[in-house]
Amino acid sequence: MEHQEYYDNLIKVIKKVKPTKELEIGLAWGESAQAFLNNSEGSLISVDPEDNMNIAPGLGERHTYIKGYSPQSLPNDKFDWIYVDGAHDYGSVKADIKACLPLLKKKGFMCFDDYNMPDVRRAVDEITLNKVSEEGNIVCFQS
Ligand SMILES: C[S@@+](CC[C@H](N)C(=O)[O-])C[C@H]1O[C@@H](n2cnc3c(N)ncnc32)[C@H](O)[C@@H]1O
Repeated sequence: MEHQEYYDNLIKVIKKVKPTKELEIGLAWGESAQAFLNNSEGSLISVDPEDNMNIAPGLGERHTYIKGYSPQSLPNDKFDWIYVDGAHDYGSVKADIKACLPLLKKKGFMCFDDYNMPDVRRAVDEITLNKVSEEGNIVCFQS
């Protein structure tokens, strides 16, 4: 998928969900972080183990970067939106879901990128929350 299409799909999701407090697993090049920060007034915590997160310092004071692996380094807090886009193998996605469900506020949203990938789809399809949207490869559920 083209980056512009991915970014546009994220913005559609953000406008539907209207998140105020977000947790993101997988910062990478910061596209999802920027989409969130540029299209909401909420705060964002990104968890990613990579060293070369040069993007992180420029994301502003509403953003916090935790250098570490999910699920071990996830913050102990509640969020109204959790965006899961870290490791994409079945076991990791399952572990992310298990760890993130208790962090989701009532009526909160959990979204996944790369729903077209078989491992991600398999893990995500086992979620028992209500599916509320699918934009490109981004699929969202509400608690
Ligand atoms: C597809 S990229 C994320 C893209 C980002 N969400 C965006 O839209 O720009 C996946 C990222 O997940 C990170 N990652 C891999 N395993 C992880 C884990 N267990 N916990 C947190 N992040 C992980 C990788 O280092 C990589 O930066």
